[in-house]
Amino acid sequence: MPFTAKILLLGSGELGREFTISAKRLGAQVIACDSYAGAPAMQVADGFEIFSMLDADLLAAAIEKHQPDFVVPEVEAIRTEVLADFESKGITIVPSARATIMTMNRDRIREVAAVDLGLRTSRYRYAESLDEVIAGADHTGFPCVIKPVMSSSGKGQSTVRSAAELEAAWTYAVANMRGDRSRVIVEEFIAFDYEITLLTIRTRDGVYFCPPIGHRQERGDYQESWQPTPMSDTALAAAQDMARKVVDDLGGYGIFGVEYFVKGEDVIFSELSPRPHDTGMVTLLSQNLSEFDLHARAILGLPIPDITLRGPSASAVILADRDSADFHYEGLADALATPGGEVDIRLFGKPTTRPYRRMGVAIARADAADAARALAKAAADKVTIVYKD
Ligand SMILES: Nc1ncnc2c1ncn2[C@@H]1O[C@H](COP(=O)(O)OP(=O)(O)O)[C@@H](O)[C@H]1O
Ligand SMILES: [Mg+2]
Repeated sequence: MPFTAKILLLGSGELGREFTISAKRLGAQVIACDSYAGAPAMQVADGFEIFSMLDADLLAAAIEKHQPDFVVPEVEAIRTEVLADFESKGITIVPSARATIMTMNRDRIREVAAVDLGLRTSRYRYAESLDEVIAGADHTGFPCVIKPVMSSSGKGQSTVRSAAELEAAWTYAVANMRGDRSRVIVEEFIAFDYEITLLTIRTRDGVYFCPPIGHRQERGDYQESWQPTPMSDTALAAAQDMARKVVDDLGGYGIFGVEYFVKGEDVIFSELSPRPHDTGMVTLLSQNLSEFDLHARAILGLPIPDITLRGPSASAVILADRDSADFHYEGLADALATPGGEVDIRLFGKPTTRPYRRMGVAIARADAADAARALAKAAADKVTIVYKD
């Protein structure tokens, strides 16, 4: 088959599935990799491989076997030194091996942002023992947030209000981190007015931005996101300026989800993912080109003539209650018929392994962002998961 490019996708969740669809529409061949069979992206890809991406030998073997033009990570937890090795042999790592290495751990990207680039961040210290956690909190003050440097989706993260809570937070972080080195970041708690994701696309023709996405987090996972979110011209310019600096430093082509806390006119860099962002699922309905389309175009070196917002839009998550091997969805038809604007649903078709696992998302467009949020939430609430075990 005359494919435009061969892509090895590392991580095959719901974001990987939407990316696969976008890439396939542009004629690419996609091989989807993950640690379990039937993962969302595998359902739509040309081929698949099942292995742990934290196993260096298996990861190298998959790249050797497929000889892809592009290796596209969808998750952080990858043996990134293997990617660097293949990059030096001429395989394109998206966006760059450096970006995957620097964002695998919170401390590395924080050093790039705060020290190398001088971006505004919260006050922070690293700690590898309870004593260092106590010293860290002394530096940041209370409340502070303690996070394992290797973790995602809020795992092992807690907000600490007094010195008495530090030991429990340290123990919790160590118990819920990835990797074998106990290391946390102790961060000043920012009482922000709102937080945003600024989707930033680095292409061979320059850097582009999507309108800012507002979102609300609970238990470390996003619950709803909306676009656009009101922001002053000064604050937006500050966010765009910082995003441009950091993506130019990380290099390569693709989309980045750059996260900020905003308090008044003060824009504080938080973290970034060098790939589509979960809060950006709203762009499946809100924009002419979704974050997945933009990622695919940037990677394949295709033009991005303009990014148009179709109208105020929102997404709301559909969560599982618990672990289950035998369940089905109900209420899809009702959800899609929710009145008040345009509604769409994505069901991920993946197993539920824990309470609060994200199983789907409702997306809505309406006359105003508030109305879109209410509509997305109403639609999400109509989808229920029925357990048979
Ligand atoms: N220093 C902080 N001050 C206030 N809220 C925070 C802070 N750090 C994290 N949070 C909250 O927790 C969420 C998840 O934290 P984040 O650092 O983005 O971790 P993850 O990698 O798990 O997404 C943020 O989106 C924000 O809502
Ligand atoms: Mg985050």
